[in-house]
Amino acid sequence: MTRRVCDAGEVVRAQVVIIGAGPAGLLLSQLLHLAGIDTIVLERRSRTYVEARVRAGVLEPGTVELLKRAEVSQRMERDALTHDGFRIAFGSGSTRIDLRSLAGAPVTVYGQTEITQDLIAARLSLNGAIVFEAEEVVPLDFSGAKPRVTYRKDGRSHEIACDFIAGCDGSHGVSRACVPAEAISLYEHAVPFGWLGVLSDTPPVGHELIYSRGERGFALCSMRSPARSRTYVQVPVSDSPEQWPDQRFWDELRRRLPKDAAEALITGPSLEKSIAPLRSFVAEPMRFGGLFLAGDAAHIVPPTGAKGLNLAVSDAASLADALIAHYRHGERRPLDTYSESCLKRVWRAVRFSWWFTGLTHRFDEDAFTAKLQLAELEYIAASRAASTMVAENYIGRVK
Ligand code: APR
Ligand code: PHB
Repeated sequence: MTRRVCDAGEVVRAQVVIIGAGPAGLLLSQLLHLAGIDTIVLERRSRTYVEARVRAGVLEPGTVELLKRAEVSQRMERDALTHDGFRIAFGSGSTRIDLRSLAGAPVTVYGQTEITQDLIAARLSLNGAIVFEAEEVVPLDFSGAKPRVTYRKDGRSHEIACDFIAGCDGSHGVSRACVPAEAISLYEHAVPFGWLGVLSDTPPVGHELIYSRGERGFALCSMRSPARSRTYVQVPVSDSPEQWPDQRFWDELRRRLPKDAAEALITGPSLEKSIAPLRSFVAEPMRFGGLFLAGDAAHIVPPTGAKGLNLAVSDAASLADALIAHYRHGERRPLDTYSESCLKRVWRAVRFSWWFTGLTHRFDEDAFTAKLQLAELEYIAASRAASTMVAENYIGRVK
């Protein structure tokens, strides 16, 4: 049940209005609540829709710590898998990136879908205000001292007056779109392929993730549990899921995996199938007066490095800390440096995701690139220094 927020025509107040109930918006709301700061979250979609969305699932150690701090880690601590490493396969070669020995920590495998459910449950159990199916959300007057947000719900207009607005509304949201073009710089890099992802109740091919650079293109074997797999193959971005019946998907995946994994592959009906384009995108800065962007609203990375969710969570925590410093101690500096400090981390992740994508995907008709990929993969397999670079970036922390 959602708490009633305001009647039509009435102007209510909140310290922070958060647009978007993805991981960034929900975590921000929860961290601020724990610090005694009140928020209202406005979400365009229904709760059912938000809770069912299938997304990524590899958590850096820093993300796990933040979910613990937010007091939403109970189910994660019970159900998540801990992975000490992962494998990169390429043709006849293969190397294991030992995260624990090279970078000092493992990653945690736990779906973003579950994190979203845990956060929504926590917010609602604390009587947190989340307005689902909020339409025509508009952030207003954020360059002045009195920002406000208007929206419609069930055909009625509402207005919330606030101190700050957090734009956590993903890459197609309204927040970034409301910023005047001359105030924002956009950096973008696209590739002409996407990932076709399949969720299935089949056991994973191994205990750890396998990123595979096949002659026919990239493939990834990931998982959600010992009984549920999440697998991907690189496809042209113009393909649609309908062109990929289950049998075609499994046949293609098998062809792109190393022999042992192909032999271990157990197939089954898909529970979900979708195609995600691969692109890198950064908006700078991430703050415009009283409007702060966080997560996918400010940046997108290709999923190869598993960074999207981790960046969204880091942004939310940085913004929460800056707002807490402001409300508790009257400090302006953390708010002033929010954008700069996030963007350092963002560009590090953009670089890694772009590099890992370039290393493992098939670029059509480009035999020179293919040879360079193999040479670099051989080097990573042979060099502790090179695999340490991969491990440190993968866990998001330098040892
Ligand atoms: N008004 C209100 N809500 C909106 C609007 C709008 N105009 N536009 C979008 N939203 C909502 C979306 O429905 C979604 O629930 O904002 C939310 C944004 O959530 P995410 O897209 O999950 O973004 P974020 O919280 O930044 O998390 C990033 O999600 O896309 C993955 O790979 C990405 O793992 C990363 C994570
Ligand atoms: C996933 O489990 O969905 C997943 C894992 C690793 C990635 C991307 C996605 O790099």
